[in-house]
Amino acid sequence: MSNSACNPPVRPSLNYHLFRKSDADDPLRHLIIDLSRACKYISYAIQTTDAGLSGSTNTFGEDQLKLDVIADDIIREYLCETGLVSSYLSEESDDIVQLDPDGEFTVAFDPLDGSSLVDANFAIGSIFGIYRSKEVMGATAREQVAALYVLYGPRTLLVYSTGQGVHEFILNDVGEFILLRENLTIAEEAKNYSPGNLRAIKDNEKYHNIVKKWLDDALTLRYSGCMVADIHHVLSKGQGIFTNVGGSKYPEGKLRLLYECGPFSYLIEQAGGASSDGSGPILDKEITAIDQRTQIICGSVNAVKEIEGMIS
Ligand code: AHG
Ligand code: MN
Ligand code: MN
Repeated sequence: MSNSACNPPVRPSLNYHLFRKSDADDPLRHLIIDLSRACKYISYAIQTTDAGLSGSTNTFGEDQLKLDVIADDIIREYLCETGLVSSYLSEESDDIVQLDPDGEFTVAFDPLDGSSLVDANFAIGSIFGIYRSKEVMGATAREQVAALYVLYGPRTLLVYSTGQGVHEFILNDVGEFILLRENLTIAEEAKNYSPGNLRAIKDNEKYHNIVKKWLDDALTLRYSGCMVADIHHVLSKGQGIFTNVGGSKYPEGKLRLLYECGPFSYLIEQAGGASSDGSGPILDKEITAIDQRTQIICGSVNAVKEIEGMIS
């Protein structure tokens, strides 16, 4: 009989889960905890900052909101504090940002995804991909050692994977992320569809035919315009298909490999789903530029295969 007074916790925290239920080593656990701390401040900033423009644009020429800049600043502060990160890449920075030369990790992130929806009080999120290397150019997103996102909605949720399944936490009233569900999985068939960059159907007949098929098959539409919320819907309901397909304006679709599609492809594959650029897994695409975009078709395996067949 054990002499320990420690029973399994009534409220398993993110730290407990990383420590006891994952293979994450101490540096990776500390890094994920520090990112989660940053997101608590972002969550607070969303509730207390006005939704106006900052007056600046990002590397993609998009107007930055004050909140985009604040979220980016908060994450930088916490990445500096860890001392574990050699460099980071952010959707809101024009270049790779160097931090601690001895740091073993590189982090790629979208500080605030769907930020233009904040004035409408829709859910928005933060997305992170973690690499255990000092360089990501020439690598693939399959080399990520962890990915996570935080969804700021009616509830603030955090979902992470370090390669042993996908796990969901809720931010409680005392500021702790507490386990909600372990091992989220995605079924092979999709009942819901989430069509991003839909205006591309005007000049992409194949995408038009895919959307027509969803309408004919009477799938249920679930699209908010925030990738974090829309893909969380797939993970939460355990089925669905999310797309962001190219047209003449964005031939590769609107979404970015490093900050958005890479981390989500890692999480979706970990949940038993698939994530493709139309011809193969996004996780196998070589990263060649910080502003690289990619089409994404992800979610339930059979739906992804069917669309790959219609789009290639
Ligand atoms: P961001 O706010 O980081 O620029 O990203 C917004 C993205 C993403 O969340 C969403 O899936 C996509 O833009 C929506 O694009 P469409 O409105 O063209 O569907
Ligand atoms: Mn985004
Ligand atoms: Mn963003």
